[in-house]
Amino acid sequence: MGKASRDKRDIYYRKAKEEGWRARSAFKLLQIDEEFNIFEGVKKAVDLCAAPGSWSQVLSRKLYLPAKVSLDSRDGDLPLIVAVDLQPMAPIEGVIQVQGDITNARTAEVVIRHFDGCKADLVVCDGAPDVTGLHDMDEFVQSHLILAGLTIVTHVLKEGGTFIAKIFRGKDTSLLYCQLKLFFPKVTFAKPKSSRNSSIEAFAVCEDYSPPLGFIEKDLYRLLEKVGSPSGANDLDCASGCLEGPNKVYIPFLACGDLSGYDSDQSYPLPQVVEGTYRSLDPVQPPIAPPYKTALDLKKAASQGIRQLENFSLDS
Ligand SMILES: C[S@@+](CC[C@H](N)C(=O)[O-])C[C@H]1O[C@@H](n2cnc3c(N)ncnc32)[C@H](O)[C@@H]1O
Repeated sequence: MGKASRDKRDIYYRKAKEEGWRARSAFKLLQIDEEFNIFEGVKKAVDLCAAPGSWSQVLSRKLYLPAKVSLDSRDGDLPLIVAVDLQPMAPIEGVIQVQGDITNARTAEVVIRHFDGCKADLVVCDGAPDVTGLHDMDEFVQSHLILAGLTIVTHVLKEGGTFIAKIFRGKDTSLLYCQLKLFFPKVTFAKPKSSRNSSIEAFAVCEDYSPPLGFIEKDLYRLLEKVGSPSGANDLDCASGCLEGPNKVYIPFLACGDLSGYDSDQSYPLPQVVEGTYRSLDPVQPPIAPPYKTALDLKKAASQGIRQLENFSLDS
C-alpha cells in the first residue's frame, strides 16, 4: 500500500503530517482535552510511554510554548514536562526526556527526581505493548503498564491532579475501573473520535486525585488486590460484589471529539491539487532508533550476503 493511499484511508494520519505532529495519536489527546479541559492550570506534566512524541508535542504546544512567548515569564516559571519511553526520541522544545522502562523502579525514581519534591498536575500514559493479537495477553501486559503508570502517579501527582491512561477494553475493564476509583473520585472511559472503532483501545480519564486516607505508596499492590478479592475494599462502589455481573458496575463511557468531525474508520478523498497529482508528505519525524532497526539491518546484511554469493558464483 502506497503512502498516498494511506493518506486517503486514514485522514488523521494525513492531518498529522500536515500539522506537524509526529503521530496521529496527537489528535486523541487533543480530543480528550476538548471534552475534559485537561490542560487548564497545568504547570508540570509527565508523559509516560511518549515515543515518537506526539503527545509530548501537544504538551509542549499547549503548555510550554505559550508560556515561553508570554512576555513576563522567567525561566523558573516555565512549565516542566518530563517524557519517558523505552525508545529514544528526537528532542522536543521544553520536554525533558528519560529513556527507560516505566515498569522499572529506577526509571520511576529518575522521573520523580526531576520533580525535586514538587508534584505534577497531569500524568498521561499512552503506553502500549507490542500487541500480539491475543486479546487476553495484550490486555494483561497493558494492565501492567497502567499499574506502572499508577505507581508513578502515586509518587508525583498532586492531590486534585489528572491521570490519563490508555486502556484495552476487555473482560477486566470493570475491575480496572474500580481500582482507579480508589484514587480518583471521577473516572471516565473516553473514546476519542480519532481512535478507530475497530480498536479495543480507550482512555481512562481520572480526575481529582485523592488517595485513600493514610495511603502508603508501597501498599499500592495490596490495595489494588483487595478490590478484586472476595472481601473487597471498603470503598463506596468498589466492593467485590460490584464485579460479579456485567450490569453491576456502570462505567461512564464517553465518545469525545467533535461528532461532526472526521471519522477514523472512513476513507476520504485526497485534497484537490492545482497542478499535478497529490504528493504525500514525508513523516514529520522518523523514529531515531526504532526497535525494528536491528531486524532491517540483519535483513539488509543477509541480502547483501546473498548478492555477494551470487556475484561470486557468476564470476567463477
Ligand atoms: C502508542 S506508542 C506512544 C505514542 C505516543 N503517545 C505519541 O503520541 O507519540 C506506545 C509507546 O509505549 C512505549 N512503551 C511500551 N512499554 C513501555 C515500557 N515498559 N516503558 C516505557 N515505554 C514503553 C513504546 O516504546 C511506545 O513508544
